[in-house]
Amino acid sequence: MTEYIQVSPDDRAEARSHVIKLHGPEGFAGMRRAGALAASILDALALRIVPGMTTQQIDDIVRCMTIDAGAVPATLGYRGYTKSCCTSINHVVCHGIPGDKVLKDGDIVNVDVTPLLDGWHGDTSRMYLVGDVSIKARKLIDVTYECLMLGLEQAKPGNHLGDISHAIQTHAEKHRYGIVRDFCGHGLGRLFHDSPEVVHAGRPGTGPELRPGMFFTVEPMINIGRADCKLLDDGWTAVTRDRSLSAQFEHSIGITETGHEIFTSSPGGFDKPPYA
Ligand code: MF3
Ligand code: CO
Ligand code: CO
Repeated sequence: MTEYIQVSPDDRAEARSHVIKLHGPEGFAGMRRAGALAASILDALALRIVPGMTTQQIDDIVRCMTIDAGAVPATLGYRGYTKSCCTSINHVVCHGIPGDKVLKDGDIVNVDVTPLLDGWHGDTSRMYLVGDVSIKARKLIDVTYECLMLGLEQAKPGNHLGDISHAIQTHAEKHRYGIVRDFCGHGLGRLFHDSPEVVHAGRPGTGPELRPGMFFTVEPMINIGRADCKLLDDGWTAVTRDRSLSAQFEHSIGITETGHEIFTSSPGGFDKPPYA
């Protein structure tokens, strides 16, 4: 049975396995601000990601914008991670580490940012097109975005997490894409990663019931080929085993009395590419 706990304003950031936190108005206010900052950072990248730049240059932009806003990149120093965002190119599923890698014409790249602002985490990612991108890659990106938004349509009180998972799975499988099972969405708030786990494939009506005040991410990773991933020797970078292209979008949301609030919507309308 799922346990829920009503969070009060002075609660400490504590992980309680299997207990799902229900946040109040101050939580919503904090997440709104952190989420808006995260989304504005991704907006700034929309017109700046071009062939020839390195993923380190993306990381520099993210770090500077985060710190200028009075926030801290939550990934800096997280379990030994030393960068301010993740940059996952082509067959990289997630957690690509920024570095010397140069973006080339035709690449697709996911940038995932998580500013920690006044104690609250805004976690979001989007895909970017580098120069001229193939139709098959653009279709994967479109369908992955649709998967996220169809999943979010199910995010309302009385529904279950499995309803979100099922909507994502159904749409991805309609296109014969693989849904990554090795990574999932997560509760968040004062903690970066909290319960519940939000899986991206599942059966309707299963999993915890959604209640007002729940905060979590939905972040489907969808592959053109098979779902299977492997981890590279750096201990972070996850790639598709068959080297097929992978795409991901992520929003942080809060369940409201009537549905959900997306904390990380793009202020500039740059929700999905093309952004130009
Ligand atoms: N932002 C990622 C997520 O969606 C987590 C990245 S952790 C890192 O949960 F250490 F790899 F950056
Ligand atoms: Co996340
Ligand atoms: Co993220």
